[in-house]
Formats: sequence, structure tokens, C-alpha cells
Amino acid sequence: MTSILILNGANLNMLGTRQPEIYGSATLDDIKSLCIAKAEEMGIGISFQQSNSEGALIDEVHMAKNHQNGIIVNAGAYTHTSIALMDALISVDLPVIELHLSNIHAREEFRHKSYIANAAIGIICGFGAYGYELAIDAMTRHLGIKR
Ligand code: DQA
Repeated sequence: MTSILILNGANLNMLGTRQPEIYGSATLDDIKSLCIAKAEEMGIGISFQQSNSEGALIDEVHMAKNHQNGIIVNAGAYTHTSIALMDALISVDLPVIELHLSNIHAREEFRHKSYIANAAIGIICGFGAYGYELAIDAMTRHLGIKR
């Protein structure tokens, strides 16, 4: 069965109470439920993970190599800082979609730079929790799965 890793980085465990005016009121568990429902609709499996640690995120990417068909990543602030996570994403040779709840290009200038973008086939940002569904749609279409 086709399966996608949905990887969430730093501070995304705080969703729901973290700056809801920017990130919305959905918790990460709410978003996980959305993703499970969307994946079922598309007939694929998902592994939904979150870590605040850069190394743990890199380990998840490495583990995806022989077990997943693609990676959707909201790396949080590591997006703007982590060459190591970018290198990991490039090293596993899987399609990567970069995802953000907020429109990072309409925010502070330091959020405009993304290292993850170098590893990505495309970027979805600014659509809140719905972006996760959009990303699953985009990844399944990229993988040639039709529903
Ligand atoms: C974020 C945007 C990042 O700039 C920020 O550091 C986050 C969340 C988003 O989903 O909008 O933690 O990735």
C-alpha cells in the first residue's frame, strides 16, 4: 500500500493554543484526524509524526527511505535554519512537499527563506489545517494515484 510520512517539526505540538490568530485553533491531534480521513479517502496509508528535535526529524526522514513513498513536511522554524534536514530530505530520494499553516511569505523576512524548498517538488502555505489535505491530494496525484 502506498504510504506517506507526514512530518511535523518544532512547536507544532503546541497547535491549538499557540498563536491561534496565525496558526488556527486546530490541535495537532485534530490535524492528524483530518489526515487519517483524507488518506482513507485516497486509499493510502500515512505515518504522522512530530518532534521538536532536529536530529529526531532527520532520523524519521532516514527511516522513511524504504518504507514510505513520499514525505510531507512542516518543519516549523527548522524550515528557515536546517541545512541538515534539507540534506536528509534530499538524501532519501523521495518526493517531498513543503507545508506551512501560515503564509510564510506574508510574515517576517526571516521566514521567507526556506532550506526545505530545495528538496521539495512544491510548497503549500497559508491555508491552515486544510493545507494538510491539499498536500495529501498533491502527493497522491504526484504518485499517480487516482480517486
Ligand atoms: C510554520 C511557519 C514557521 O515559520 C514557524 O516557525 C512555525 C510554523 C507554519 O506552519 O506556518 O513553527 O511552519
